[in-house]
Amino acid sequence: MMNISNGKKKTRNNFTKNKRIIPPEKKRISYKKKEYWKGGTLLAPVPPALVTVGTMEHPNVLTIGWTGILNTIPPKTYISVRKERYSYQMLMDNREFVINLPCTDLVKAVDFCGVRSGRDLDKFKEMHLTPAPANHVSTPLISECPLHLECKITDTINLGSHTMFLADIVGTIVSENCINQDGKLEIEKCNLLAYAHGAYFSLGKQLGTFGYSVKKKK
Ligand SMILES: Cc1cc2nc3c(=O)[nH]c(=O)nc-3n(C[C@H](O)[C@H](O)[C@H](O)COP(=O)(O)O)c2cc1C
Repeated sequence: MMNISNGKKKTRNNFTKNKRIIPPEKKRISYKKKEYWKGGTLLAPVPPALVTVGTMEHPNVLTIGWTGILNTIPPKTYISVRKERYSYQMLMDNREFVINLPCTDLVKAVDFCGVRSGRDLDKFKEMHLTPAPANHVSTPLISECPLHLECKITDTINLGSHTMFLADIVGTIVSENCINQDGKLEIEKCNLLAYAHGAYFSLGKQLGTFGYSVKKKK
């Protein structure tokens, strides 16, 4: 609710339309009452990555939700893949993959590549995705995605339903239109897609940046 004094617009609880979008502590939604469920895979959101496997001559793409960063120096990641995926043997044989982070425009392709197999059809063709050479690996990237992590597999760990492919991130490829004049990546320009509990989302408004909560006011 707005009230106006001294010609300046003020809002109750410091809650202005665009600037302060995080409510003060007293106004937080209460999540205190809990239910207890059995252990499961409910970590959300995760990136629904379009992972490319194989080579330029024989590429395939599948959607992967079970991925993450494991180490900073050296940069390490993983993808967890079921043995029955067509991509599984390609990963075993080629020992490389590319994590392509999709933008919101690609949500249909992301879902399609996660429910149809490269055994049966060419997912690049069906979804109008363009494989293009990467920099450090023989696996192609997907041109339509804004960000790409080039990965070389170092270990495989059978965990049960899935095999974890541990990998070094040997290169990062960033689309030029997401880089500003100072050479910095402007991540909001990537329009990244998120996946949470079986549904796809776009990212919301930026709420802060790393360390902002302790930053001294100028
Ligand atoms: C959002 C989403 C996330 C997925 N995450 C994984 C995953 O982490 N690991 C996996 O093995 N399959 C995952 N899948 C299923 C595979 O992408 C799917 O079985 C795909 O058809 C396999 O393709 P392929 O047979 O061409 O390798 C996911 C599917 C969707 C839609």
